[in-house]
Amino acid sequence: MTAAGLLLATSDPANVPRHVAIVMDGNGRWARKRFMPRFFGHEQGMETLLRVIDLFADRGVEYLTVFAFSSENWKRPDEEVSGLMNLVLIGVAKYLRKLATQGVRIRIVGDRSGVSHKLRAAWDEAELATASNTRIHLSVAFNYGGRWDIVQACQRAVRDGLRPDQVDESALAGRMALSFAPDPDLFIRTGGEMRISNFLLWQAAYSELYFSDCLWPDFGTTEVDAALAAYARRERRFGDVHAPEVVPQGA
Ligand code: IPE
Ligand code: IPE
Ligand code: MG
Repeated sequence: MTAAGLLLATSDPANVPRHVAIVMDGNGRWARKRFMPRFFGHEQGMETLLRVIDLFADRGVEYLTVFAFSSENWKRPDEEVSGLMNLVLIGVAKYLRKLATQGVRIRIVGDRSGVSHKLRAAWDEAELATASNTRIHLSVAFNYGGRWDIVQACQRAVRDGLRPDQVDESALAGRMALSFAPDPDLFIRTGGEMRISNFLLWQAAYSELYFSDCLWPDFGTTEVDAALAAYARRERRFGDVHAPEVVPQGA
């Protein structure tokens, strides 16, 4: 594709993903390269997230879902785990007002039962303060795992009294943590690893995958635009022989 063609493709709103999901990976390696503690990388990672939210919102992305702490990240040293928890409290105190005025609607998705009362109170504050915003829906996946999400959706279905024949895809989809959002169109992982690491297992069934070697704290305008350009070039078929847009009328 020529540069002009690419510009046309990415400027067509039909080629902009409605929902982008990101595994923000590489903070620790970014810090290590600078002979700094891993926490320094996480701090920089938070600053990056702030910039990236705005970049995607400016480009017309409606939903942004980011992986901040996985169900498996509890295996890390206590010091790193508590550092990450504190960073959330710092982030809410430092940036909530700014995000609220920028039109960002914040939701936290994940198992809240595993985190402290203080953290839950900060989440509630962030969700409440931004509940009427509509520019971009930011979902922060914290203490989240794709397997946890599927299990909790099944548990809710049981609690709701569904019979086995009523447990179908839409019954579960409506009970998943991101039930308010369309499935992610574009799934980005930074940091060079090519794996999903238990992120959105259910929702990413037909997401376009994009892996970047960029370590998360370095992710910026160039990388955002490269990911969106790559997405605009993909042909999504959803199991059909053609992309839905090119299927002739009446076919
Ligand atoms: C991702 O960065 C952030 C979290 C998992 C919280 P890492 O901390 O995994 O960084 P690397 O992969 O060790 O470089
Ligand atoms: C995935 O990164 C989780 C987050 C970014 C929050 P990890 O660094 O935990 O993934 P693995 O361990 O390399 O698979
Ligand atoms: Mg990692």
